Amino acid sequence: MSDAENGSNGGRPPLRSRAWFDNPANPDMTALYVERYLNFGISLEEIQSGRPIIGIAQTGSDLSPCNRHHLVLADRLREGIRDAGGIALEFGTHPIQETGKRPTAGLDRNLQYLSLVESIYGYPMDGVVLTIGCDKTTPACLMAAATVNIPSIALSVGPMLNGWFKGERTGSGTIVWKAREMLAAGEIDYQGFLKLVASSAPSTGWCNTMGTATTMNSLCEALGMSLPGSAAIPAPYRDRQENAYRTGLQIVEMVHADRKPSDVLTRTAFMNAIRVNSAIGGSTNAPIHLNAIARHIGVELSLADWEAHGSDIPLVVNLQPAGKYLGEDFYRAGGVPVVMGQLLRAGLIDGSALTVNGKTVADNVATAECEDLDVIFPLDAPMKPAAGLTVLSGNLFDNAVMKLSVISDEFRSRYLSNPDDPEAFEGVAVVFDGPEDYHHRIDDPTVGIDTNSILIMRGAGPVGYPGGAEVVNMRPPTALIQAGVHALPCLGDGRQSGTSGSPSILNAAPEAAVGGGLAIVRTGDRIRIDLKNRTADMLVDPAEIARRREALAIDYVPEAQTPWQEIHRNLVGQFDTGAVLESAVKYQRIAQTRGIPRDSH
Ligand code: FES
Ligand code: MG
Repeated sequence: MSDAENGSNGGRPPLRSRAWFDNPANPDMTALYVERYLNFGISLEEIQSGRPIIGIAQTGSDLSPCNRHHLVLADRLREGIRDAGGIALEFGTHPIQETGKRPTAGLDRNLQYLSLVESIYGYPMDGVVLTIGCDKTTPACLMAAATVNIPSIALSVGPMLNGWFKGERTGSGTIVWKAREMLAAGEIDYQGFLKLVASSAPSTGWCNTMGTATTMNSLCEALGMSLPGSAAIPAPYRDRQENAYRTGLQIVEMVHADRKPSDVLTRTAFMNAIRVNSAIGGSTNAPIHLNAIARHIGVELSLADWEAHGSDIPLVVNLQPAGKYLGEDFYRAGGVPVVMGQLLRAGLIDGSALTVNGKTVADNVATAECEDLDVIFPLDAPMKPAAGLTVLSGNLFDNAVMKLSVISDEFRSRYLSNPDDPEAFEGVAVVFDGPEDYHHRIDDPTVGIDTNSILIMRGAGPVGYPGGAEVVNMRPPTALIQAGVHALPCLGDGRQSGTSGSPSILNAAPEAAVGGGLAIVRTGDRIRIDLKNRTADMLVDPAEIARRREALAIDYVPEAQTPWQEIHRNLVGQFDTGAVLESAVKYQRIAQTRGIPRDSH
């Protein structure tokens, strides 16, 4: 008898699904569990055969178009699971769509996480395939895998094909920010605006720019949680179907090997991912999500690690918004393995980290060769040196991040050109209380915005919005755009889309809603940003700051509209520590530490 036939799993602990489907010590409950899973055609022999039961956490739906192609890929995934001797049970997850969910998809990351923990832990699963893609689905899935800690592998849905308009590449999100400026400047009308933006979405899949989706799927691969070379494959390519099949084969092998997230998601893996994030020009949302995953697996990781280990890594991937190409080009050039291979050969990542396929990073990427040096630059002749994130602090916030790779030459020459102090600039605050206030007043000439202004957005954090909105990248007033000014410095307690190239200071923690420094800054205050010393301060007399604090009545929290908004607000932490549900963090590796849940009847 093979292991699969006798259910012994090769001398390892018995498969956890046996507790549901084949427990002779408890025939009443076994009967109850077994009979209903037969009702769509699985036979008693199959379900009691000792084959691993593999969950497919299905994140695709009509509500989640970025991940919708997973509904198709699931067929190939099932074939892989079946061919390797497993049985697939596909289940739905709470939908997340970055662009569709109001008030924010940020609010739903933690809800999908919670529901996944309940599903994976509370149902008969020996392993799980996490179908990732759109921005928040990747961290939600990895956070849940970390908490439960049964063998888990991620399958990316893949980016859309490249967008094109009049012979130029149009990238997701990035073209929206550009088209908004063109609309404001009167260069295109409403219909022209919509047509231009729609051109960037020519197929199924996620954002084809180096936004949060490409970032998080690439970092998932860098962490070792998906198959090498898988992140960059465009959604409609046949290679993506093949990758789904191979992922299905792999998860069954992982169950037999008992290879769990805790074996892969080590501090070494996170350090590698931080460095990869800099080299690809990854999104400012990455530290929020990686810090959240690390907290749920119990690995120490802080913003200080991002600064210490990531800020000096050069940018090599020439993708929009920092560069010119899109997802198909990244795949053709070799994708994540090429970037990791370069970093490995330069001694910048640790090749000993284990990955889902049972091999190390070094095994997977050591020989990866770049197929297009204009898309992935060599590390010794990069697009930009020292292109990671920098972490700022001061009297406005304890910390906030800024993405160095998107600081444009125009911005540099206007704001960072003082020869005595080339990394610092000062400006005058114009404060907006939420995006509605910004939209209402941005083109009002009496607000007095000019090239000396620093636009500040508050009330947009995990508690205040709630969930944290991507509203800190604010276009300048129309009059300034028409005069050729395309970006003003922006700062805020919300996030910014990873597809935006704005030189913004983001994710400020603590946010205004919980009494951070942004709650007391006022329009007209002088603000000093010093990138060399990594500070951001309002130049306001300490006595005046104390007076304002005294008088502060926190009113940046609008009334909750749903039960979850209220629950989330009461439990969520700040961006710097991952904006996780704080009381969830103590539940770690629950498949090992908390056993199997009690019977239901
Ligand atoms: Fe879903 Fe960008 S909106 S990936
Ligand atoms: Mg986004």
